[in-house]
Amino acid sequence: MSASNSKILVLNGPNLNRLDLRDTNTYGSMNWEQLVTFINSCAKELGLEVEVKQSNSETEITESLQGAAQSHTPVIINPAAFTHYSYAIRDAVELIKAPVIEVHLSNPMAREEFRHTSVVSGVANGTIAGFGPNSYHLALIAMSKLLSK
Ligand code: DQA
Repeated sequence: MSASNSKILVLNGPNLNRLDLRDTNTYGSMNWEQLVTFINSCAKELGLEVEVKQSNSETEITESLQGAAQSHTPVIINPAAFTHYSYAIRDAVELIKAPVIEVHLSNPMAREEFRHTSVVSGVANGTIAGFGPNSYHLALIAMSKLLSK
């Protein structure tokens, strides 16, 4: 039996559902619906099954992560602003034995100082940031490699 569930949870934090209102120089020109379509088509091309979720609530994200821990579901997570301060999300990521990849559309290290800290990175297998929507494509490729090990 495989150690991980075959479905990958792609979990997204606050304000990513309103990419249409955010700075296109930072986050690119795809709106949320287009990003979801893009992630689904990248997954399909790689032969991966994904469930894409977004929430503005730290509670909901924490509960989704607890569910993933329970079901051994691999996770690609863009915790958005929670990246920088949510110990609850960090602790929930730590519960997951399947691979976890952190992604960001922008490169937080090239932005304001408060974005230079990720409390999630230390409990993820790795982080991919700064490639716009392609960060998700690269994360799916990395996940596929981790799962086929
Ligand atoms: C983000 C970067 C975070 O600093 C920011 O709060 C976001 C999006 C990104 O994808 O680039 O909301 O996670």
